[in-house]
Parts: sequence; C-alpha cells; structure tokens
Amino acid sequence: MAIIKLVNVKKQFGDKEVTKGVNLEISQGKMTVIIGQSGEGKSVLLKQIIGLIKPTSGNIFVEGVDVTLLNQRQMNQQFKKFGYVFQFAALIDSLNTFENIGVTLLENGISKKDVMPIVKEKLRLVHLKEDTLYKYPAELSGGMRKRVGLARTLVTNPHIVLYDEPTTGLDPITARIIHELMYSMQKNFNLTSVIVSHDINIFKYADRVALLSQGKIVHVCDAENIWQSTNPYIYQFIRGLTEGPIQNELGKQKIKV
Ligand SMILES: Nc1ncnc2c1ncn2[C@@H]1O[C@H](COP(=O)(O)OP(=O)(O)OP(=O)(O)O)[C@@H](O)[C@H]1O
Ligand SMILES: [Mg+2]
Repeated sequence: MAIIKLVNVKKQFGDKEVTKGVNLEISQGKMTVIIGQSGEGKSVLLKQIIGLIKPTSGNIFVEGVDVTLLNQRQMNQQFKKFGYVFQFAALIDSLNTFENIGVTLLENGISKKDVMPIVKEKLRLVHLKEDTLYKYPAELSGGMRKRVGLARTLVTNPHIVLYDEPTTGLDPITARIIHELMYSMQKNFNLTSVIVSHDINIFKYADRVALLSQGKIVHVCDAENIWQSTNPYIYQFIRGLTEGPIQNELGKQKIKV
C-alpha cells in the first residue's frame, strides 16, 4: 500500500521549474531511496512531502490525505507523523546534545526531568554514550552529529522518516554504521523510510530505488537487483558514467585531461 503518493507534482522558483511533474508511490513499511544528480531537486522533493515547501501544482497524499490542501494548523498536525533528518545534520550550535535531541519536547513545555529518560533511550538506540549528553555540536565528530540528528528525529516516535543525505561526508565505516542503524530502526519500528542518498552502499539495505532526472522520476526499481538493471538511466547513474540519457556537463563536451 502506498503511504505517500505524489501525483504530477511541480515546483517553480521564480521562472525556474525544479520539479517538473513528479509521480511516485512510497510503500508503507519499506525503505525507498531517491537518487539523482546534485541540484536535481531531491531536497526540494522531500521538503514538499513534509509540507515545508508547497508545490506549485499537483497533489501529495500522505495516508490518503492531500497535504497540499491543508491549512497551516492542519499541516502542523500532519508534520508530526514525520521524522526529518536534515542534510548536514542541522544541529543547533548553542544547544548541547540533550537539548538538541529533546528540543521538540522541551519546546512543548515538558520538564527536563521527564524529557531526560526519553532522550537517554534514543541516545542508546543510536549507540552514543551518556557522556555525550552535555557536549555541544562543535565538540562532536561528523558521525556523532549525524547520530544526534537521528536520535532527535526519533524522539517524537514518527512512523515515516525522511533522511536527506544521512552519510555524506562520513568515512565508509562510519557510513556503514549509520546505514545499519537506519536499517535496524526501520525493522524494529516498522518505519516507512525515504532516503535521499549519493551513497551506493545504501542499496544493500533498501527495498526500492527511484531515480530523479530532469525534474521527474524516470525509473523505479527493486534495490536488490539494481546492479543487474538494464534501465539506461539507472545503469548510467549508479556507475557514474558521463555517457547516457542523463545530461551532464562532461557528457556535453569532451574534456581533455
Ligand atoms: N527555497 C528556494 N528558493 C529558490 N530556489 C531553490 C530553493 N530551494 C531550492 N532551490 C533550487 O532548486 C534546485 C534544486 O535544489 P535541491 O537542494 O533540491 O537539489 P538537490 O537535488 O537536493 O541537490 P544536492 O544533491 O546537491 O543536495 C536548485 O537549483 C536550488 O537552487
Ligand atoms: Mg539536497
């Protein structure tokens, strides 16, 4: 069953059309990865799903509700279904780990005493030690910051989690640890996960892969057999080839090295 369904979604900024009619169905309880070149509009697409950016036209159904028709108050309710892991972790520099993870609960007036056990539980889920609680983002490594970002997302117990480039900038081993965490959270909580990633190692954990090119989803396939796919878009993209249907700077001109 499709828990999220995008129907002919278009988004224009000024005279620039970024999303040019996206159709995509995301299955409940599955891990779907969205791939595509830098600047294609992947982050814009995720932000449209959670209602941070309103599409110019088209419909986005989340559990059957068309979120493009909701007013701000209804949107805020809808927003609670989602966990969103921002590109670059986006922690608040002036807050320590405890405050960063618990920020939504603290803002809702829940006391520090009540928030603490929830934060500690999430901290355990992402395998961070309790001595991290009082450290500030500047004192954490990139991988630790990503984990804090994951823990913060889990604090409201969302059933749909969207990740924007969760492993970019991490070494292969730390990236793998983050992938394993995402996978175990996916299975343990029966989440629906939507992941924008440039990291081809994510395919091992994913169910479906959707490729965004020139403002549209041009192909969706099973992650399991992706390396055997003969779809020309998928074939080109996952091998990083400049020749093929996906337009790119190098494909247009032969550059002498
Ligand atoms: N709020 C905005 N106002 C105007 N233009 C925007 C806005 N947000 C994004 N864009 C433009 O939309 C296009 C797609 O941006 P987006 O961040 O979604 O790309 P992306 O596929 O996530 O790239 P990357 O892989 O580098 O993160 C870019 O040209 C960007 O400049
Ligand atoms: Mg992006």
